[in-house]
Amino acid sequence: MRPVIVVHGGAGRIPKKYVEERKKHISKAVYTGYSVLDRGGSALEAVVEAVAYMEDSGWFNAGRGSVPTSDGDVELDAAVMNCDGLFGAVGSVPNLANPVRLALEVLRRTPHRMLVGSKAKFFGLRLGFREMYADELIGVKRIWEYISSEEGEYAHLLDRLERARGIFGDTVGAVAVDAGGCLAAAVSTGGILFKLGGRVGDSSILGAGIMVNKVASAVATGVGEYIIDSMLCYNIVKYRRYYSLAASVRKAMNFMTRFRGKDSGGVIAVDRWGHIATMHNTEGMGVGYLYKGMDGPKVGFTEYVFI
Ligand code: GLY
Repeated sequence: MRPVIVVHGGAGRIPKKYVEERKKHISKAVYTGYSVLDRGGSALEAVVEAVAYMEDSGWFNAGRGSVPTSDGDVELDAAVMNCDGLFGAVGSVPNLANPVRLALEVLRRTPHRMLVGSKAKFFGLRLGFREMYADELIGVKRIWEYISSEEGEYAHLLDRLERARGIFGDTVGAVAVDAGGCLAAAVSTGGILFKLGGRVGDSSILGAGIMVNKVASAVATGVGEYIIDSMLCYNIVKYRRYYSLAASVRKAMNFMTRFRGKDSGGVIAVDRWGHIATMHNTEGMGVGYLYKGMDGPKVGFTEYVFI
């Protein structure tokens, strides 16, 4: 089985000035995850390491880069899943470093599937997780900087919100298959900019923002409410039993686009045989991937990838 990892840095409108820096970090995240696969590690371990790297980079709407809620806080969603059907998630966790690792702890240490809010944070603090310092929260800082900038100040309020959303895109995620043919997925997000406190999006919801079975693995990015309505990732892995991975992704994405409209999101997927598929109905989406035999990660920002 050829080990493969695919990583995304969020669908949305990505300002040109951020593209190169984000490409660099997507590439590093791909390397981080792939090096786990290369030394014989599991797909689950690989996707968690890739996503944790992106959380720490501060360049995406996850971890340090998370955007604020309407109260100005950060509340984080994350989930992990593997081909044995093991699933762990956290939802609306107030400011804690590496929520994707916390989701893994929910999977490994508890009989539950999801912990939410301040009790989830407490669970993490007891395990040695730490809060992020205010000056580490690069996402919050950048959003306020934009809003108080000349460009932000003179823009119409709704336009300002729309642009501010674009600054950080949405969500990070990774899917992988390891040498033993086991698939896994991990996802992490600060959620939608200025969401209500307590809101949980698709990233924590099994079948919506994440789904893995023995045949395929998918994670989503975009407007959580629309992804939940469309059960985007569930549809992809279900269709893969009957169609190619590329056709499965197209069918599931076309359903969401018809149902909830353009600019609702995107997805990355991999199957047991190492095929890769990504698609988005937004202006952009940063994706990188690597498998044995490639010289290094391939990272792109707008193209569809079907391999
Ligand atoms: N896709 C991330 C969210 O809506 O929370």
